[in-house]
Amino acid sequence: MKNHSIRLSICLLFLTLFSGIILATSGAESAAKTDSCVSRKCHSGMGKAKAVHNPVKAGMCTACHNAVADPKKKTKHPRNLTITLAQQGADLCYMCHDRNNKKKVVHGPIKGGNCTFCHNPHQSPNKGMLKEPSPKICFQCHPDSLVKHKVMHPPVLSMGCSTCHDAHQGDHPKMLMQEGNSLCFMCHSDKQEHLKKRKVAHLPVKQSCVMCHNPHGSGNSAMLSASVPALCANCHPNEVSLGQRAVTKHSPMTGKKQCLTCHDVHAADQPKLLVKQQRALCLGCHDAVRRTKTGAVKNMKAFLEKHKNGHGPVRENNCASCHNPHGSDYWRLLVKYYPPEFYTSYSDGKYALCFTCHDKAAFTKRITDEKTDFRDDKKNLHFVHVNKRSKGRTCRTCHEVHADNNRPHHVSDRVKFNDWEMPINFVPSKNGGSCLPGCHGAKEYRR
Ligand code: HEC
Ligand code: HEC
Ligand code: HEC
Ligand code: HEC
Ligand code: HEC
Ligand code: HEC
Ligand code: HEC
Ligand code: HEC
Ligand code: HEC
Ligand code: HEC
Ligand code: HEC
Ligand code: HEC
Ligand code: HEC
Repeated sequence: MKNHSIRLSICLLFLTLFSGIILATSGAESAAKTDSCVSRKCHSGMGKAKAVHNPVKAGMCTACHNAVADPKKKTKHPRNLTITLAQQGADLCYMCHDRNNKKKVVHGPIKGGNCTFCHNPHQSPNKGMLKEPSPKICFQCHPDSLVKHKVMHPPVLSMGCSTCHDAHQGDHPKMLMQEGNSLCFMCHSDKQEHLKKRKVAHLPVKQSCVMCHNPHGSGNSAMLSASVPALCANCHPNEVSLGQRAVTKHSPMTGKKQCLTCHDVHAADQPKLLVKQQRALCLGCHDAVRRTKTGAVKNMKAFLEKHKNGHGPVRENNCASCHNPHGSDYWRLLVKYYPPEFYTSYSDGKYALCFTCHDKAAFTKRITDEKTDFRDDKKNLHFVHVNKRSKGRTCRTCHEVHADNNRPHHVSDRVKFNDWEMPINFVPSKNGGSCLPGCHGAKEYRR
C-alpha cells in the first residue's frame, strides 16, 4: 500500500513537470495553467461531486490532458488549445495505477481497456467514481434478473457483488475471491465443520456447492436450483420416479421434508447419508400402528422390543435388505416378490425375496439329504408344505420374518390363520423335531 502511494506521488510530480514543459515549449502565448481550467466560468462543476478523483481534486488536469496551443490550428477551446489525452484507454490510468489485467482471469471490459465504461475519470456521486452505483453498474452489461429472484442470497444485496467478485481481475474463475467451496466457507464455516466431522459426505457437496445452490438466488428455498425432489431427480432419477409411480407408496417420500426426512443432503455419520442409524430411523416412525391402503401395519418398535431374537438382516439393522423405503411394486414395500397370502401355488419367483439369501434347492428337491434340515430322512418337508400346485403354505405359516422369542430356526409360536392365532407348538429334537399345530395332529421328523 505504501509503495503504491509513493509510486503515485512520484508519478504525479513527474506528470506535472512534464506537462508544464509541453506547455512552455509549445510557443503558446499564454498556456493555461492547470489550476485555471476550473473557474466560475469554465468547468465549474469539477471537484464538486461526492467522489472526486484525487488528481482532479488537486487541479492537475494536465496529468491526463495535454493542452497545446498551436497558432496554425483553429480550435473551439478558448485560447485556441488543442486538448488530447496523454494516453489512450487503460494506459492513461496505468500511468498511475497498477495494471489490473495481469491475473489469470480478466473481466471482459478490462481486457478491452475500457475503464471509463464504469468509472468517470473525474468525479461522480457514487463511491469509486462509478458512473452508476454498484450493483446497477453491473447491469449495464449483465441481466438484472440476477438480483430479482424470489429467494435472494442475503450478501448479494446487503454486501454487494464485490464481496465475492473482483470487478477487474482474479486468480479464480469468474474473478471470484476464492476458488470453489472455499468461497462459501468464508462465511459458512459451520458447513465446512459439518463436512469435516461427518463420516460420509455427499459427493456433489465435496465437488461444488453451486451444483445445487445458485450463489445469487433462485425461486426455491435455500436458493436451490430446483426444489426437492426435482433437484435430486437430476442425479437420482430412479429413487424419485419410484417414489411417484410405485404401486406401494411410502408417505415420507411425499411428506413435508421428502427425501430430507431420511437423508442429510450434505453429510452424515451413517452410510447412504442417513440421518440416523437405519433401524432407529425406521422405528422412529414405526413406533405405533400405521394405517395403509392395505390395512394397518403393526407397531414394529414394540414388536421388536418384545421379540429379541432377530432374523439375520434385522439383527444387522438392515431393514432395507427386504424393504425399499422409496417405494415398491410389491406388497409392504418389499424389494422383491413375496406372497401376501397364507396359501399359494409354488413358483421360484414367488419367494424371490427369501431366495436372495437362502438356497431355493431346499424347496425344489422332493428328495434330499443335504439341502434342508426340515426333512424326515430324505423326504423334504419344506417341499411337502411349500411346493404345491395349490394351497402351498407360504413361509409365514411357520417362520417369523422379523424376530421371535428365542425360537429355534425362527419358527413362530403362533400363526395368524384368518382370525385365529393358531399355535404351532414346534419342539426341536437332536436330529429333527415335532409339532402339534392347529391344522393336524402331532407330527415328528427325524434325519
Ligand atoms: C485521471 C485522468 C484525468 C484527469 C486528471 C482529468 N481528466 Fe478530463 N478526461 C479524462 C478522460 C479519460 C476523458 C475522456 C472521457 C470519456 O471519453 O468518457 C476526459 C474528458 C474530459 C472532458 C470532456 C468530456 C467531459 O467529460 O466533459 C473535459 C471537459 C475534461 N476532461 C476536463 C477536465 C478537467 C477540467 C480536468 C481537471 C480539473 C480534467 N479533465 C482532469 C481524464 C482525466
Ligand atoms: C495522475 C495519476 C492518476 C491517473 C492518470 C489516474 N488516477 Fe486514479 N487515482 C489517482 C490517485 C492519486 C488516487 C487516490 C489513491 C488512493 O486512494 O489510493 C486515485 C484513485 C482512483 C480510484 C479510487 C477512488 C475512490 O474513491 O476510491 C479510482 C476508481 C481511480 N483512481 C480510477 C482511475 C481511472 C479509471 C483512471 C484512468 C481513466 C485513473 N484512475 C487514472 C491517480 C491517478
Ligand atoms: C465493470 C466495471 C469496472 C471497470 C470496467 C473498471 N472498474 Fe475499477 N472498479 C469497479 C468497481 C465496482 C470498483 C469498486 C468501487 C467501490 O465500491 O469502491 C472499482 C474500483 C477501482 C479502484 C479503486 C479500488 C481498487 O481496486 O484499487 C481503482 C483504482 C480502479 N477501480 C481502477 C480501474 C481501472 C484502472 C480500470 C481500467 C483498467 C477499471 N478500474 C475498470 C468497476 C470497474
Ligand atoms: C461494460 C460491460 C460490463 C459491465 C459494466 C460489467 N461486466 Fe461483467 N462481463 C462483461 C463481459 C463482456 C464479460 C465476459 C463474458 C464472457 O466471457 O462470456 C463479463 C464477465 C463477467 C463475469 C464472469 C462470467 C463468466 O461466465 O465467466 C462476472 C462474474 C462478471 N462479469 C461480473 C460483473 C460484475 C460484478 C459487474 C459489476 C461490478 C460487471 N460484471 C459489470 C461485461 C461487463
Ligand atoms: C456470495 C457470493 C457472490 C455474490 C455476492 C455475487 N456472486 Fe456472482 N457468482 C458467484 C459464484 C460462486 C458464481 C459462479 C457460479 C457457477 O460457477 O455456477 C457467480 C457467477 C456470476 C456470473 C456469471 C454468470 C452466472 O450467472 O453464473 C455473473 C455475471 C455474476 N456472478 C455477477 C454477479 C453480480 C452482478 C453480483 C452482484 C449483484 C454478484 N455476482 C454477486 C458468487 C457471488
Ligand atoms: C460474504 C459471506 C457469504 C458468502 C461468501 C456466502 N454466503 Fe451464503 N449466506 C450468507 C448469509 C449472511 C446468509 C444468511 C444467514 C444464514 O442463513 O446463514 C447466507 C445464506 C445462505 C443460504 C440460505 C440459508 C437458508 O436458510 O435459506 C445458503 C443455501 C447459502 N448461503 C449458500 C451459500 C453458498 C453455496 C455459497 C458459496 C457459493 C455462499 N453461501 C457464500 C453469507 C455468505
Ligand atoms: C446435492 C445438493 C446440494 C449441494 C451440493 C449443497 N447443498 Fe446446501 N442444501 C441442499 C438442500 C436440499 C438444502 C435444504 C435443506 C433443508 O431444507 O433442510 C440445503 C441447505 C443449505 C443451507 C441452509 C440450511 C442449512 O442446512 O444450514 C446452507 C447454508 C447450505 N445448504 C450450504 C451449502 C454449502 C456451503 C454447500 C457446499 C459445501 C452446499 N450447501 C452444497 C442441497 C445441497
Ligand atoms: C449433481 C448431482 C446430484 C444431486 C443433485 C444429488 N445427488 Fe445424491 N449423489 C450424487 C452422486 C454423484 C453420488 C455418489 C454416487 C456413488 O458414490 O455411487 C450421490 C450419492 C447419494 C446417496 C448415497 C450416498 C452413499 O453413501 O452411497 C444418497 C442417499 C443421495 N445421493 C441422496 C441425494 C438426495 C436426497 C438428493 C436431493 C436432495 C441428492 N442426492 C442430489 C449426485 C447428486
Ligand atoms: C423413509 C426414509 C427414506 C426416504 C424418505 C428417502 N430415502 Fe433414500 N434411502 C433410504 C435408506 C434406508 C437407504 C439405504 C438403502 C440401502 O442401504 O440399500 C436409502 C438409499 C438411497 C440412495 C442410495 C441408493 C443406492 O443404491 O446406494 C439414494 C440415491 C437415495 N436413497 C435417494 C433418495 C431420494 C432422492 C429420496 C427422495 C426422493 C430419498 N432417498 C428418500 C431411506 C429413505
Ligand atoms: C428378511 C426380510 C425383512 C427384513 C430384514 C425386514 N422386514 Fe419388514 N417385512 C418383511 C416381510 C416379508 C413383511 C410382510 C409381513 C408378512 O409377511 O406378514 C414385512 C412387513 C413389515 C411391516 C408391516 C408389518 C405388518 O403389520 O404387516 C413393517 C412396518 C416392517 N416390515 C418394518 C420393518 C423394519 C422396521 C425392519 C428393520 C428393523 C424390517 N421390516 C426388516 C420382511 C422383512
Ligand atoms: C417419517 C416416518 C417414517 C419413516 C422414517 C419410515 N416410515 Fe415406514 N411408514 C410410515 C407411515 C406413515 C406408513 C403408513 C403407510 C403410508 O402412509 O405410507 C409406513 C408404512 C410402511 C410399510 C408398509 C407399507 C404398505 O403400504 O404396506 C413398511 C413395510 C414400512 N413403512 C417400512 C419402513 C422401513 C423399512 C423404514 C426405514 C427404512 C421406514 N418404514 C421408515 C412412516 C415412516
Ligand atoms: C410347515 C412349516 C414350514 C414352512 C411352510 C417353511 N419352513 Fe422353513 N423350516 C421349518 C422348520 C421346522 C425348520 C427347522 C428344520 C430343522 O433344522 O430341524 C425350517 C428351517 C428353515 C431354514 C433353515 C435351513 C434349512 O432348510 O434347514 C430356512 C432358511 C427356512 N426354513 C426357510 C424357509 C422359507 C424361505 C420358507 C418359505 C419359502 C420356509 N422356510 C417355509 C418349517 C417351515
Ligand atoms: C438379506 C438376506 C436374507 C433374506 C432376504 C432372508 N434371510 Fe433368512 N436368514 C438370513 C441370515 C443371515 C440368516 C442366519 C441368521 C439367523 O438365523 O437369523 C437367516 C436365517 C433364516 C432362518 C433360520 C435358519 C436357521 O437355520 O435357523 C429362517 C427360517 C429364515 N432365515 C427365513 C427367511 C425367510 C422366510 C425369508 C423370506 C421372507 C428370508 N429368510 C429372507 C438372511 C436372509
